[in-house]
Amino acid sequence: MRAIRYHEHGSPDVLRSEEIERPSPKRGEVLVAVRAAGINPVDAKFRDGTYPQGPHPKIPGSDFAGVVEAVGDDIDEFAVGDRVFGTGLGIDRQGTCAEYAVATTTHLAKLPDGIAFTVGAGIGLVGVTAWEGLIETAGLAVGDRCLVHGGSGGVGHVAVQLASAAGASVVATAAEQYHDRVRTLGADTVLSYDRPDLASAIGDAGAPDVVLDHRIDQHIELNTEIASQGARIVAIDSTAPELRYPDSGLARAKMHTLHHFAMISLSDYSSALKLIARLLESGNVTAEVARTYDLADTGQAHRDVAETSFLGKAVVVP
Ligand SMILES: NC(=O)c1ccc[n+]([C@@H]2O[C@H](COP(=O)([O-])OP(=O)(O)OC[C@H]3O[C@@H](n4cnc5c(N)ncnc54)[C@H](OP(=O)(O)O)[C@@H]3O)[C@@H](O)[C@H]2O)c1
Repeated sequence: MRAIRYHEHGSPDVLRSEEIERPSPKRGEVLVAVRAAGINPVDAKFRDGTYPQGPHPKIPGSDFAGVVEAVGDDIDEFAVGDRVFGTGLGIDRQGTCAEYAVATTTHLAKLPDGIAFTVGAGIGLVGVTAWEGLIETAGLAVGDRCLVHGGSGGVGHVAVQLASAAGASVVATAAEQYHDRVRTLGADTVLSYDRPDLASAIGDAGAPDVVLDHRIDQHIELNTEIASQGARIVAIDSTAPELRYPDSGLARAKMHTLHHFAMISLSDYSSALKLIARLLESGNVTAEVARTYDLADTGQAHRDVAETSFLGKAVVVP
């Protein structure tokens, strides 16, 4: 089969298109013919060595959608021909940027009929992050006010839809050119993340009860200032390793809870994926597929995800 692999850490240039042996599913595993593979910022962190992972050579890619080609012993839930999507690969096992990928059932759910493979491949990691972060971790509930930083990004654009579908009122930040589309996705208010009066503009929309933050080091002061009494703040990433409260007294007085969340630390993605499948089927949530690439252009997709601006997801098609 054709697969993208890297034999050492480095820039996207280390990604090579290679012909390798097709894997076979062992007991408890499912072999999927990959129809589309989603690209995420974390793929670059594994590729460049920021996050350590299993031995080389490595196939990158966490997300995928495709058709079950074969199943190993002890698989009852999936059969040959099923449409599936999944996430969480490429960490301690090989990834998804290949013609075939092997997964356990903890990485998989059935993809509803009528949902494109590119959408299934685009929503795995970001959908699980948005669901687990907002609903399971922060307990977002009907009537809550939810602030989504980076509402046009992979995680952000799904989080906006999910929070809106959960009955929250949603404030999102995004670059000006995406404001209309982020509103269409379900945000009640969209604000440019670089406006100097961002804190008061968020305050005008109402103090958020839940905040989803992908740049917690940059926003910790803002979040402390604007979030409501008892707010839950979910931090999914930062731009620097150091994190300090400029005013921890205020955070304490407001009894804020800061949750650090890492999707790749979950041991089972399947229950969240099944819920996402239902949301896809109901039309409440989708992944906006902004760009598709040939498998051989996976390196370019890695570059674009890191360096360019678009709303939604980049997806590779073998
Ligand atoms: N902990 C976890 O489980 C987890 C899971 C998924 C992702 N993550 C991390 O979360 C981050 C976002 O992931 P993603 O997939 O959504 O990435 P993405 O698709 O690249 O989106 C990043 C978003 O951030 C926006 N942005 C750029 N500068 C900003 C600023 N100064 N303030 C606010 N927003 C800004 C971008 O907007 P423009 O297009 O205008 O630049 C874009 O909408 C990444 O660092 C990723 O590694 C963590």
